[in-house]
Amino acid sequence: MQILWQYIVGVLTLCVVLLFWIREQRARRRFAGLSSYPLLPFIGNIHQIFGDSKALFRHMAHVSEVCENNESGMFVTWIGHCPLLIVQDPEDVRTITNAFVEKPYIYSFGKIWLGDGLVTAPVSTWKQNIRKLAGTFSSSVVDGYLGVFNAQAKKLVDNLLMEVGQEPFDIMQKYLAYTTLEAICQTALGVSKISENIVTTEYYVAFNRCLELLVNRGMNAFVHPDFIYKLTPKYQEIKKCVRVLHNVSDTVMRKRKHEREKLRKEEMKEKKTGDTEGPKLKAFLDILLDLREIDPSLTEQQIKSEVDTIIVGGQETVASTMFYTLLVLGCKTRVQEKVYAEMKSIFGDSTRPVTKEDLSEMKYLEAVINETLRMYPPLPGVLRYADRDLQIKSFTIPKGTICAINGWGAGRSASVWGKDSALYRPERWLEDQPPGNTASFLAFSYGRRACIGKKYAMAILKTVISQCVRELEFISEADNMQFKVDIGLRPTCGHLIQVRRRESLQK
Ligand code: HEM
Repeated sequence: MQILWQYIVGVLTLCVVLLFWIREQRARRRFAGLSSYPLLPFIGNIHQIFGDSKALFRHMAHVSEVCENNESGMFVTWIGHCPLLIVQDPEDVRTITNAFVEKPYIYSFGKIWLGDGLVTAPVSTWKQNIRKLAGTFSSSVVDGYLGVFNAQAKKLVDNLLMEVGQEPFDIMQKYLAYTTLEAICQTALGVSKISENIVTTEYYVAFNRCLELLVNRGMNAFVHPDFIYKLTPKYQEIKKCVRVLHNVSDTVMRKRKHEREKLRKEEMKEKKTGDTEGPKLKAFLDILLDLREIDPSLTEQQIKSEVDTIIVGGQETVASTMFYTLLVLGCKTRVQEKVYAEMKSIFGDSTRPVTKEDLSEMKYLEAVINETLRMYPPLPGVLRYADRDLQIKSFTIPKGTICAINGWGAGRSASVWGKDSALYRPERWLEDQPPGNTASFLAFSYGRRACIGKKYAMAILKTVISQCVRELEFISEADNMQFKVDIGLRPTCGHLIQVRRRESLQK
């Protein structure tokens, strides 16, 4: 009897395995002809794509080269039975990013922190909220933030002046991360009026650890299911970090509401006496609270998620771009001197704050920032979920595929950028048809779910970098740099830079 049971269980197991195998073969046949790694049954390429963040970068760089050199411009890897299609051809990217708005399940790992904020929201929620939020970083709103950007730039320059004559130092960890985090907090939450000390070390540590834990989970397919992850110590740790982060946004939201009441009363008084000042900074949180007064469907929880999302979306990306730009300036004297010459022509020898008129004159600096973003995209890849079959140039993407839009590969592609694509050449952005708004430039993603903070990013980057270059010279070593991908693109050797005081200022 026992033998019979063993026999039945054995046959059933075999049937299930066979069914899985047939299903898998059928799915894999739809991708036949595309470049791929050799596959293992059932696990596909899990063992190749999930390693540490350095391995992830190597994988990305290798796949970019394969895509560049094969006819289809695509590559497929398999997370078990789930296909991950990597795409970098501009025409295909345009089609995919306009057709697919849904994000794959991996983004849901971030919900513990960001709830249903724009980045992690399912498409139904995203559609409702993007309409309300798309304009929140318009030019006029960003102009109102220039005071904060200038103050942060001055603080950074003062700190960097103290590093003059010292050994190379990690500019990101010591300064840039705080500069951008404080700027984002002040503009997103209006905290400059509440407390200068919102960006405490505890907050900063929790912030970075949270990102790290999310990456760790993404790279380990075994803890993807929620019920398994919740049993691990990492889940307890991420909950602890998130508590610190939410505590800040909760406290600030409460205080901000109080402040608003007070400010309103003051404004009424000012109106009565006609004693009004110029335009005041309107924090992102204020804009959302104003919206909530006319549209109660925007809940408190949603507002909090959006604020947390903006802080995450804006901090690391801007800091990283700032770092790579200063790094490149430090090892390309010609480029640094051209930026300096542009600043001289706008500001003379003055160290006065930057105005919005100055920003529009910084054409060469803008080209430098764009070229940096092309070659060092802070988010080198983003994902979309195929919620239906879709025909692209030479292939039909089956429903259920995860599409990876490869910003790293697209930015370095010779077929897109020309033979000198590996060369850092800002001048390409000043030629007749700059590629900024095409699907060849993917630093801010593309299509219907692209970045909404581009104007904000350009304004803070230009303000801070221009103030730095006016007073300081940067020296760095970027040859043979190695990278890793921790959600963002990071150098493995740290963020080392040296500074010298400008000679004209030494006299
Ligand atoms: C140089 C700086 C920046 C870069 C390179 C950048 C890049 C990106 C990318 C690639 C995405 C798409 C993410 C995805 O699909 O998974 C994105 C989305 C987003 N970014 Fe940025 N970003 C930058 C600055 C900012 C800033 C300053 C803010 C806000 C203050 C911001 C807010 C957002 C938001 C809210 C989204 C989600 C948009 C949506 O899903 O509708 N970003 N960004």
